[in-house]
Amino acid sequence: MLFIKLFLSYGLAVFLVRGDAVPCVSRKFDQDSTVCVCNSTYCDAPGIEGGGLLWTYFNTFTTTKDGLRLYRDLGTFDDQVTPNKYVFTVGNNTRQMILGFGGAFTDAATMTMNSLSPQTRHRLIASYFEQNGLEYTMGRIPMASNEFSNRVYSYDDVADDFELTNFKLPDEDIKFKLPAIRDAVRASKRNVTLFGTPWSSPSWMKTNGNMSGPGTIKDGEQFLNTWAKYFVQFIKRYTELGVNIWAMTVQNEPSDGFKENFPYQCLGWTAETQRDFISKFLGPALKDNGLDYVKLIILDDQRTFLPSWPGVVLNDPSVAPYVSGIAVHWYADDNVSTNVLDETYFDFGDEYFLLNTEAAIRDEFDKSNTVRLGDWQRGERYFIDILQDLKHGVSGWVDSNLALDMNGGPSWAGNEADSAVIVNTDKDEFYKQPMFYAMGHFSKFVRPGSKMLEYSTNLPNDSDLKAIFFTRLDDSIAANFVNTNENEIYNITITDYRVPGYLNYQIFPKTFITFIWYRI
Ligand SMILES: *[C@@H]1O[C@H](CO)[C@@H](O)[C@H](O)[C@H]1NC(C)=O
Ligand SMILES: *[C@@H]1O[C@H](CO)[C@@H](O)[C@H](O)[C@H]1NC(C)=O
Ligand SMILES: *[C@@H]1O[C@H](CO)[C@@H](O)[C@H](O)[C@H]1NC(C)=O
Ligand SMILES: *[C@@H]1O[C@H](CO)[C@@H](O)[C@H](O)[C@H]1NC(C)=O
Ligand SMILES: *[C@@H]1O[C@H](CO)[C@@H](O)[C@H](O)[C@H]1NC(C)=O
Ligand SMILES: *[C@@H]1O[C@H](CO)[C@@H](O)[C@H](O)[C@H]1NC(C)=O
Ligand SMILES: *[C@@H]1O[C@H](CO)[C@@H](O)[C@H](O)[C@H]1NC(C)=O
Repeated sequence: MLFIKLFLSYGLAVFLVRGDAVPCVSRKFDQDSTVCVCNSTYCDAPGIEGGGLLWTYFNTFTTTKDGLRLYRDLGTFDDQVTPNKYVFTVGNNTRQMILGFGGAFTDAATMTMNSLSPQTRHRLIASYFEQNGLEYTMGRIPMASNEFSNRVYSYDDVADDFELTNFKLPDEDIKFKLPAIRDAVRASKRNVTLFGTPWSSPSWMKTNGNMSGPGTIKDGEQFLNTWAKYFVQFIKRYTELGVNIWAMTVQNEPSDGFKENFPYQCLGWTAETQRDFISKFLGPALKDNGLDYVKLIILDDQRTFLPSWPGVVLNDPSVAPYVSGIAVHWYADDNVSTNVLDETYFDFGDEYFLLNTEAAIRDEFDKSNTVRLGDWQRGERYFIDILQDLKHGVSGWVDSNLALDMNGGPSWAGNEADSAVIVNTDKDEFYKQPMFYAMGHFSKFVRPGSKMLEYSTNLPNDSDLKAIFFTRLDDSIAANFVNTNENEIYNITITDYRVPGYLNYQIFPKTFITFIWYRI
C-alpha cells in the first residue's frame, strides 16, 4: 500500500479526478448567488465521478453561495488524532434503501426544452442525465394535462366513451414528452425509472363535468372501470412508443379535489375511496392486462396525511399486494413534523417505500418574484428538505418541472413557478440554478441502491450544520453536509473505523459539500 500511495502522488490524483470536469460560466442576475450559463457550445459539468480512489484520499464536491458548483477536489486522511470540536462517527446500522432522484417531464418542461436549438436542448438533457452531469434516475410523467400545460385536455374528451375507443395521445406526448424521455434514457448510463401520475380524469367522468375544480369520479362501476382502463391505455401506449413505465401514482394530491374553488386539474379521493378503487378496479385492471409489474404508489399528497392514509389503504389485505409505495409532496413540510415520516416508516417502511414526488418554489404573494435567477436560499431549501426527508425514511426525491421559461411557465392557469433550470429561448441559453446543484449533490452521489447510514455526533440538532451519510453498493461512503450559517466555519472530524485516518475539514459558510471515500 505504501508504494502505491507514494506512486499516486497528490498532483497526479488531482489531475485524474478533475480532468473531465467543465467549469461553470457563472452569471449574476439580481439575486444573492449566481447561475451557470449553458448554450449550444458550452455547458459546465462536474465530470464522471470515477471509481475507487485509495483510502489515503477522499473526494470532495463543493457548491457555495460564492460560486463553486459541484467543484471537485481531493483531501488526504490525517494520521494523527486531532479531533475538531464536532466529531462524526460512522455507525454500522443502515436504514432505507435509496431508489433515486429526478424531475418531472411536464408539458411545460418538455415544450420549453424544445424551444431551444437541438444542440442546446441536448446539453440541457445531458446536464441532468449524462454520466458527467447529475445522473438523474427518476422521471415523473403527467398522465394528460395539469397546470403546467398550455391548455386543458385529457386523452379522451369524447363524452361517455366507456370503451375508450377515442383514447389518443396528443402532440404534447408525441412531440414533446416522449422524445424528451427517450433522449434522457439514452443519455443515461444508469437505469431511469419512470412513473406516471394523473391530475384529472376526462371531464365527462367527473362529478363537476370539468377537469378543473373540485369533483370526484362519478358514482357507479362504469366510471370507475373506465378510469382504471384509462391507466392501462396510458401504460400500453407509452410502452409501445418505447418508454417503460415503472410505476403509477394513483392520483396527484387527491385532497385538492375537495378544496372549494381549487382552480386547476384535480380529482378527489379519500383514503377509503382510493383503497377501494385500487382493490376493485385499478389493481385487477393492471393484472388482467399483464401489467401487474407496474408498481402502484398511494397518497402523492402532503405529509399532513401521514400516517393515517397509508394505514387505511395498506391495512386492507385485498389492496396491500397491489401497492409498492407511498408518495409525499413537500408543500407542508414547514408545518408538519418529520415525526409523521418516522411513524410511517416504522409502520410500513420495510414493505413500502416512501418517495417525495413533487416540490416547487414560487412566491405566493409577489408574482415578480416567481423566478429568482441565482437565489441561494431556494437551493438551500431543496438541500435541507431532501436531507430531512432522507433522514426520516424517504427513499428518493423527485423535483417538479425539469425546466421552465423565463416567466416560470408556460402554465395555462397562470400558476408559474421557479425551476432548477430556466430557459432563455431568445438567447438559446439556459441557466442552472442553485436548486439544480442542490439536487445534484444527492442524485449524482447517492446512487440507487445506497442505504442511509447511521452515525453519532456531538453536533447539536439545531445547528446550522446538517449532515447525512450513505453507504453505497461499491462499499464507499457518501456524506452530504450543508452549512446554512452566514458566518460560522465548522471544523469537523469524521471517523470511520474502516479507514485508518481522520477526515478533518473546515466547512465554510453557505456551503453544500459531498465527501466520498472508499473503505478497506
Ligand atoms: C457559449 O458560451 C461560451 C462560454 O461562455 C462562449 O464562449 C460561447 O461564445 C457561447 N456560444 C454561443 C454560441 O453563444
Ligand atoms: C461497527 O462495527 C465494528 C466491527 O464490529 C466495530 O469495531 C465498531 O466499533 C462499530 N462501530 C460503531 C459506531 O458501533
Ligand atoms: C439496470 O437494470 C437491470 C435490470 O434490472 C440490471 O441488470 C442492471 O444492472 C441495471 N443497471 C444499472 C447501471 O444499474
Ligand atoms: C372549468 O373550471 C374552470 C376553473 O374553475 C373554469 O374557469 C371553467 O370555466 C370551467 N369550464 C367549464 C366548461 O365549466
Ligand atoms: C406554515 O409554516 C410557515 C413557515 O413556518 C408559516 O408562515 C405558515 O403560517 C404556516 N402555515 C400554516 C397553515 O400553518
Ligand atoms: C436530536 O435528534 C435525535 C435523533 O432524531 C433525537 O433522539 C434527540 O432527542 C434530539 N435531541 C434534541 C435535543 O432535540
Ligand atoms: C479550524 O481549523 C482551522 C484550520 O485548521 C484553524 O486555523 C482554526 O483555528 C480552527 N477553528 C476552530 C474554532 O477550531
